[in-house]
Order: sequence, then structure tokens, then C-alpha cells
Amino acid sequence: MPRTWNTIIEPFKIKAVEPLGFTTRRERERALKEAGYNVFALPADKVLIDLLTDSGTSAMSAEQWAALMRGDESYAGARSFYAFEKVVRDLTGYSYVLPVHQGRAAERILMSVIGGPGKTVIANSHFDTTRANVEVTGAAALDLPVAEAWDFGHAAPFKGDMDVAALKAKIAEIGASRIPMIVMTLTNNSLGGQPASMRNLREVSAVARRHKIPLIIDAARFAENAFLIKKREPGFSHRPVRDIAREMFSYASGCMMSAKKDALVNIGGFLALNDAQWVAKAREVLILGEGFPTYGGLAGRDLEAMAVGLVEVLDEAYLTYRLRSIEDLGEGLRSCGVPIVEPPGGHAVYVNAKEFLARIPPDRYPGQALVCELYLTAGIRAVEIGSLMFGRRRGGRFEPAPMELVRLAIPRRVYTQSHIDFVIEVFSDIAARRDRIRGLRLVESSPTLSHFTARLAPERS
Ligand code: F0G
Repeated sequence: MPRTWNTIIEPFKIKAVEPLGFTTRRERERALKEAGYNVFALPADKVLIDLLTDSGTSAMSAEQWAALMRGDESYAGARSFYAFEKVVRDLTGYSYVLPVHQGRAAERILMSVIGGPGKTVIANSHFDTTRANVEVTGAAALDLPVAEAWDFGHAAPFKGDMDVAALKAKIAEIGASRIPMIVMTLTNNSLGGQPASMRNLREVSAVARRHKIPLIIDAARFAENAFLIKKREPGFSHRPVRDIAREMFSYASGCMMSAKKDALVNIGGFLALNDAQWVAKAREVLILGEGFPTYGGLAGRDLEAMAVGLVEVLDEAYLTYRLRSIEDLGEGLRSCGVPIVEPPGGHAVYVNAKEFLARIPPDRYPGQALVCELYLTAGIRAVEIGSLMFGRRRGGRFEPAPMELVRLAIPRRVYTQSHIDFVIEVFSDIAARRDRIRGLRLVESSPTLSHFTARLAPERS
């Protein structure tokens, strides 16, 4: 047996560096006030450690930067497209590959082909842009996660699974002809970045096939899901993660991809499908909104970088380090008494702010209060996934979200282990004085996706 070591080392060395944004407490107080206590409105150079998202924030490798220089910028039939198409086909097995500028473009195109009033899309959970793109066509978006996904403190290996019994019941209730597709979001970002098991994928796929409903994968974090299958599902520990990923894709007939996550690039995405009729319609929408089908809203060089990233992301040394580092953040928070969604998933640790700041009621936004405290204390930027994002006001009445979470999303290959240690240290400081943290009032908001633009103010003491 090779000797194993405890220290987590990054399986790369650093060639280009960027300074972090150090600020004083007073500067942060001023910046946060100006931002209306909404961290989306902060200038990034006033952020020290940016855990707002893992999307589009990856560091590219030397190979990816080299590939950029090989980009073929021909309008039609660029060499870069064929290189990219080959990588996606080899990975997913799907016949047709349409590049798009990011994941939500793939969602919009697919939904404009198959959505519409009277239809229902069923998912383990829709990501918020996926849901919005379903609903904008007049269709309904239904989430059927397994019940244990909601039990945040309880650790189970595959809380990203879909509830198969509920899926069967729903198909019987509304009829297969009104369900244009079933979506498996891998990993399930909306409920803690939890993976789905191969077993569940197989079962969902069998139900979908029996009813002739296409199963489509939201593949944004496919490599992390595949690696968590390798680590957690019996029978997979000896299989190369690339094989596991290919098997995952084999149970579906297409995927929507935000390449800003597991293709390790700063912009990009694709829609890959087997159905020639869907593709013919999707191409028309693509040309209208994105560009010619061999570049789809991207530069040739972006296609090259995605092609390299899709291979690199399946490197097991990289995935081992990534998952281990996220686990370590989870362990650190747990040890300072911070409740998290258990177990940590593939791209982030989610803090349960409803428990951590139990004195702050949902209409005073406990998640956002913690987000602001992290920024004020040490310039760490996180994102609220709770009543600021999903709460609604109907006729003057406040309807809270079912969860109050704070996501600490870890950009890929960007921060080192000492940055993670620092985040843990800051949490231990905050945990010791959590009873003094105050809630926030909503001052201004817009009707859709209001969390991006809302303005808040600290509750008066
Ligand atoms: N699907 C999932 C599961 C996602 O997490 C995202 C984006 C998308 C689709 C949309 O992709 O941003 O490229 O248009 N998630 C980001 C996040 C924004 O912070 O979690 P996109």
C-alpha cells in the first residue's frame, strides 16, 4: 500500500498570481453600507476571499492558456469547434453538440423548443435559472428530491437523488405526454451541492424510458458528482472517474452544461442531445440568440479551453484535493459549532443559518445577516440561499423560504489550504459572538431574481 499523508496539498504549482483585496474594518463598513447590505453590489477588489460562487471563477491551467492561442476564429467550421465537439462526444456519448455562452443559454434554448403552457418539467431540483427558463415558457417546474435532502443535519451519501416513488406518482397523475423532460441536476446545487447515486440515475432513467420521457442531465458539476459516486457508492471505488462519468451520461439522452463549473473555464457552456428533431429547432434558436452553430456565442479560443478543461477536471489527483479541501472546511466549521448541510458536497459548504442564528426570524434574513458578518469581520464574500433569494411577499404577507442557508462556494484551483484555514478561523470568531449579530430589513427589491439587486439595512437595536 502506498503511504498516505494527512496534509492536503494542491496538486499544482502557481504560475501567475493576483493580489487579494485587503481592506480595513472601516472600509468594509462603508462599502457594505453603500452596497445596501447586498454583497452582489460590492466591488470585488474590496473582497479578500471570494466564495460567492464557483461559477466562472476557476483558474485555468498552463495547457488551457496554451490552447487559447490555438483558437481558430473562423466564423463557420472552425477547427476549434471540431476539437471541442470530439471531447464532448467522447465524454457524453451524445450525437449533437451545440456550444452556448453559458448554462442558462442551453436552458433557454431547450425550453423554447420543448416548454410551453400546460407542461411540467420534473427535476431532483431545478437550479434557479433552470426554473426561471421553464416558467417563462408557461410550463411548471416541479422538484422531487428525496425527503432526506431536507434533513440538513443528517449525513447521507446521496441526498441529490430524486424521489422515484414520487416521480412515478406524478407521472400517473399528470400524464407522460405533459412532461417534456425529466432533469437530474448533478450535483444538486439548490439543496447543498449533494450528489445523486448511479443507482438513482438508473432508476430514474428506467422510469423515464418506460414512459418515453427524455431524461436530461444538468451537468454543471458532473465530475464532482462522478467522484462522489466513486467515493461513496459501493462497487465504484476501483473504476476510473471518467468511466463513471460516461456511465452517468449513458442513462440520459442529453445534457445542459454550464462549462463555468466543471469545464474549468471562465465562460462557456453547451447543449448536447441525441434527438435530431430537437436539435434542428434548437439550432434555429441558437442562431437567433447566440451565433452560428459552430461557435454559439463564444470565441474559438473559448472552445479550445473548454475542450482541455473537460479532460483536466477528471484528473483524480485534482478531484481528490478538491473534495478533501471542501471536507476539511466542513470539519473545521463543525468543530467550531457551526451547523452545516451534512455531508459537505462537491463544490461548497452550506451553513445552516436558521440554526446558527436561531434568534433572527426569517423575515429578518438570518442567512444574509451571516453573509454581512463574514464580510465585515474579514472581507469574506458568501451567498445567501434563503428568504432573501426565495422568500415572497404576497399582499403584504411575508412567505419565508423553506431554508436559510449560506453557501461558501469554492472556486476551482484558486485558493490554497491556508485560505481555507483562514475561513475556519473567522467562523470560530463569529461563532463565539453569534448572539450579538442583528438581522436586516428589506428596503428595496424587484419582482424577479430580487436577491441580485435588493437593498437592505441593519435592524435597529
Ligand atoms: N445549473 C446549475 C446546477 C447551476 O449551478 C448553474 C449556475 C446553472 C445551471 C446556470 O449556469 O451560470 O452558466 O448560466 N450556477 C451559478 C452558481 C450561477 O453560483 O451556482 P450559468
